[in-house]
Amino acid sequence: MASLFTKPKKKIVFLASGRGSNLRAVLENLKKGKIAGTGISLITDNPACKALEIAKEFHLPSQVLDFKSFEDKSAYHKALLDRLLELQPELIVTVGYMKILKPEIIRAFPNSIINIHPSLLPAFPGLGAQKQAFEYGVKIAGCTAHFVDEGVDSGPVILQGVVKIKEGMSERDLTLEILKEEHKILPLAVQYFCEGKLKIQNRKVSIQ
Ligand code: GRF
Repeated sequence: MASLFTKPKKKIVFLASGRGSNLRAVLENLKKGKIAGTGISLITDNPACKALEIAKEFHLPSQVLDFKSFEDKSAYHKALLDRLLELQPELIVTVGYMKILKPEIIRAFPNSIINIHPSLLPAFPGLGAQKQAFEYGVKIAGCTAHFVDEGVDSGPVILQGVVKIKEGMSERDLTLEILKEEHKILPLAVQYFCEGKLKIQNRKVSIQ
């Protein structure tokens, strides 16, 4: 029970489409009590995704909105919005969610959606960010936890993790090193959000 000294936990919904390693990273931190939040649901568009198994392992309720079963894109996005409005999360975390959220969803949950992206934004937005960075030949790569706005990977930056590209590193090595950083910064960003520490002013995020 929340006492006078403990803040109520923030309700978190996760959106995922794939492997779910970032979902696991956040759920582990929730389980350890490092984050003042409660996972209330995983919603996925992909019934075959590994993230569903991870949710089960952590006793996180899950719901499948199978993208292929909808008549068209807009029917899917409407169903997703309806589901989110029913759940009323205080925070939505997109963890390897492969759809672009519609403006209606972003407007319904302003500054309350966090995404993890595998590049040092604003460099290399969109798909295949690690490959883009590797092929460009940058010497420093990394990942970004950011708020989601109506653009693609363009919202206010919360935290970034840096990976130095060493001589002889392959694209796969780089992807794995970036993923390790993702698993550090995403739970931390969620933790700060749940503690009410993130303030956005002129699209700059300060951690108070
Ligand atoms: C991660 O690299 C994340 O940055 C990107 O998609 C990948 C998802 O991996 N958005 P996982 O499903 O969390 O393992």
